[in-house]
Amino acid sequence: MNIASHTRLAFTATTHSPEDTMRLGQRIGSLLEPGDVIALFGSLGSGKTTLVKGIGLGLGMKDSREVRSASFLIIAEYKARIPIYHFDAYRLDGPEDMYNLGCDELFWGDGVSIVEWADRVEGSLPEEYLEVSLSIESPNSRRVEVSSHGKRYERIVRGLEGKGP
Ligand SMILES: Nc1ncnc2c1ncn2[C@@H]1O[C@H](COP(=O)(O)OP(=O)(O)OP(=O)(O)O)[C@@H](O)[C@H]1O
Ligand SMILES: [Mg+2]
Repeated sequence: MNIASHTRLAFTATTHSPEDTMRLGQRIGSLLEPGDVIALFGSLGSGKTTLVKGIGLGLGMKDSREVRSASFLIIAEYKARIPIYHFDAYRLDGPEDMYNLGCDELFWGDGVSIVEWADRVEGSLPEEYLEVSLSIESPNSRRVEVSSHGKRYERIVRGLEGKGP
């Protein structure tokens, strides 16, 4: 089996406001299934937490204000159609810190796991995950690229194709 031989499918959009980014998150959230893992990449203020708020709404969270920068908590759990585990790896020093937090159990469980600052703990991610990379294009616009690592996540990229954010 050679995972790297899979074609990586990608969907790219530019969002022009935080609300736009939330709407894109909401569309991603509506496509998620138990056990999905989403890795968020992007610099300070690129919109990672804003996107998680949208994902939460897409997964049926009642109030997205519950989602905040989880830097101090490191893991926050939200109730939704599927439980959401929101990691913020900003303060972590590497994959060992993630393992010590019990990430494996959560990644392989029936919730949806979302990791902010995934580049800081990349070695702890499962072989297959959905990558979302955000970058700042201008003060109010963000480039968002969603790509599949592994076949499991192709359905989400396909689900996003053909429609705007
Ligand atoms: N198109 C946009 N999408 C998302 N956020 C935007 C956009 N335009 C402006 N913003 C602003 O950028 C900031 C994004 O902050 P957010 O907390 O979501 O980013 P983050 O990547 O989680 O940051 P951190 O690295 O601190 O965790 C907010 O103040 C938001 O209002
Ligand atoms: Mg954040």
